[in-house]
Amino acid sequence: MTNAAFTPRVFSGIQPSGGLTLGNYLGALKRFVDMQEVGKYECVYCLVDLHAITVWQDPADLRANTRELAAFFIASGIDPERSILFNQSQVPAHSQLAWIFNTVARMGWMGRMTQWKDKAGKNSENASLGLFAYPALMAADILLYHATHVPVGDDQKQHLELTRDVAAKFNHDYGVDFFPITEPVIEGPATRVMSLRDGTKKMSKSDPSDMSRINMSDDADTIAQKFRKARTDPEPLPGTYEELKDRPSARNLVDIFAALSERSHADVVAEVEGMQWGTFKPLLADLAVEKLSPISSEMTRLMADTGEIDRILGKGAERASEIAEPILKKTYEIVGLVQSS
Ligand code: AMP
Ligand code: TRP
Repeated sequence: MTNAAFTPRVFSGIQPSGGLTLGNYLGALKRFVDMQEVGKYECVYCLVDLHAITVWQDPADLRANTRELAAFFIASGIDPERSILFNQSQVPAHSQLAWIFNTVARMGWMGRMTQWKDKAGKNSENASLGLFAYPALMAADILLYHATHVPVGDDQKQHLELTRDVAAKFNHDYGVDFFPITEPVIEGPATRVMSLRDGTKKMSKSDPSDMSRINMSDDADTIAQKFRKARTDPEPLPGTYEELKDRPSARNLVDIFAALSERSHADVVAEVEGMQWGTFKPLLADLAVEKLSPISSEMTRLMADTGEIDRILGKGAERASEIAEPILKKTYEIVGLVQSS
């Protein structure tokens, strides 16, 4: 069976661990909206709270961050009627399938994950068991919906390869063609948004310098100031995108401009050829404010009514369960777990 036998379905997730950045918006959210707008996919978007707690989360913060993330999805353009929006912990089938995948995945596979190595660091003895098993839960998220396409940022590529390995090993071990071999969708002009202070490092909520990132909560003045102070180099903007190859900080600003304006790199470079940074940066800042301010004010408006957010997530969980339950049931049958009929 090829993937063509499966309903074209998109699945992706973001952890509600707080601190949303422009990287999350351009690398993930904006592309989730694009996939929704294509119209040919059923889109399932998940706030992966069970992944978030693999590192310590204060319970009150987790609750607030989950609602804030839901607001971010909706404010960015995810329509909870057309797409399914829910939080992972409300659909128990995620944990149930993850357990089965814990028996399929191998210790060696997990040990090779760079996210595990980065997050556990030198003190891996003290990391949670959940952090180690994180990729098996992620494979469960995706395969529970027989998702065919998974849009993510570049940093998630390795986890998606592991998801393909889990699906292939399950299919092979049980002699079935049950789980699809999912396609990662790592596309667009800004799959890896870099730090504004260092173009070789990823823009991240955990960077100690707030000047390194644009937060979704930043006001217009802060956004403008951060772009004004962004690291560049003494050269003006070149005439071709290829000439930016060895100029990471400069390239990052061009990538951000292209992604925000929904244009190709080539288009943007042709327009700004020869421009000095002192001219380009204010253009970029204005564009960012124009695109991001409506999202942050809509988030504030939505968060004033947490009851409505919870209702949307509850409805999303019901719709997600309708897809997930039959797939979990069939998995149990394949594995030989006895169920009452
Ligand atoms: P995280 O906040 O790390 O859980 O990431 C959530 C989503 O945003 C994932 O799909 C990431 O790949 C994406 N993402 C996070 N930071 C960046 C970045 N700097 N550039 C591009 N995508 C990112
Ligand atoms: N690991 C992803 C991240 O940190 C979040 C995630 C969890 C995810 N489950 C997923 C992404 C399923 C895509 C599909 O960004």
